[in-house]
Amino acid sequence: MVDIKQNVSLQPFNSLAIPSVATHFVELTQERELPEIIAYSQARQLALRVLGGGSNLVLADRVEACVVRNTLLGRTLVEEDLDTVTIEVAAGETWHDLVAWSIAQGWSGLENLALIPGTVGAAPVQNIGAYGVEVADRLVSVRAFDLQREEVSNLSNVECLFEYRNSLFKSDENRYLICSIRLKLHKSFSPMLHYGPLQALKTNIDLRAQDVFDRVVAIRQAKLPNPDRIPNAGSFFKNPMVTGAVFQRLQLQFPDLVFFRAGSGYKIAAGWLIDKAGLRGQSGAGGVGCYSKQALVLINPQRSSSRDVVAWSDRVRHRVEQLFDLTLEVEPRIWT
Ligand code: EPU
Repeated sequence: MVDIKQNVSLQPFNSLAIPSVATHFVELTQERELPEIIAYSQARQLALRVLGGGSNLVLADRVEACVVRNTLLGRTLVEEDLDTVTIEVAAGETWHDLVAWSIAQGWSGLENLALIPGTVGAAPVQNIGAYGVEVADRLVSVRAFDLQREEVSNLSNVECLFEYRNSLFKSDENRYLICSIRLKLHKSFSPMLHYGPLQALKTNIDLRAQDVFDRVVAIRQAKLPNPDRIPNAGSFFKNPMVTGAVFQRLQLQFPDLVFFRAGSGYKIAAGWLIDKAGLRGQSGAGGVGCYSKQALVLINPQRSSSRDVVAWSDRVRHRVEQLFDLTLEVEPRIWT
């Protein structure tokens, strides 16, 4: 019998520390518990919502659903050849612990993705990315329970429809419960150092994956607040993608604009836009504001409600729209 509880606080389970109550809540520790959880929810006409590390979520005061906290554990080596390994990792594992462990095994590929909060199962949902690497670059497949068809589905990398901070699992929200993912890693090391702050490592001729990992950890610790001390959900907005014409208009008006080439268009640094709009280090109702060292990170130091979080987010979006005629898209998922 699985232990489904009622009226459970989700405050400890979301990194923005928003006070929120789930009408129904269960921790999934074994895949075989799923049919019972599904039957329970169907009998009560409850939606199922899957919670990972809660580090990319804005929660309503009350979540009328059966919230399933995915705590499936396990890491297995499934294939190996001369150059590569393929590992299968359960969704409830902590992402950063996986990264540290893989490097300790002598496998490279995840070092640029060190210190990203959250679970392994959440990684493909928003296609986590940092310092020039996305999880999509390493992912072979996802094993997920399709809640609509009520069967296990194996989705290849292509079937996951990965894009910048997006995937099938984000666009078709609440359809899949991710059980595990397969990643392909390398035994030899070819560093990815094109992202600005990592370029200094290029002169190191004995560079190891561990060195890149250490540098990424140091950069993140200097710029991004630790959610255990200052509640936050990482970058709160996506970097907007614009066409050449829009880019030219912006650059003419703002010659110091920070941007990156992205395919045929341009990605504008949303942190720079918010900073330029004078909002870095500023806050509003409930103390919700933009972090002083990285304006793109919305912080909730007083553990205020989603109302205050959404009000500040709207204010930021409005100011950016007024000043740059650009619309910022919220990055975390919003559970209403
Ligand atoms: N900038 C400012 N002021 C600010 C913040 C940024 O001027 O307050 C400018 C700086 O010039 C900086 C540039 O914006 O060089 C870009 O900032 P940063 O290097 O911090 O990267 P980002 O584009 O803001 C993205 C990801 C991060 C990821 C970093 C590193 C998104 C939405 N965010 O941030 O991901 O760690 O690049 O690759 O794509 C996350 O998704 O939660 C996250 C933290």
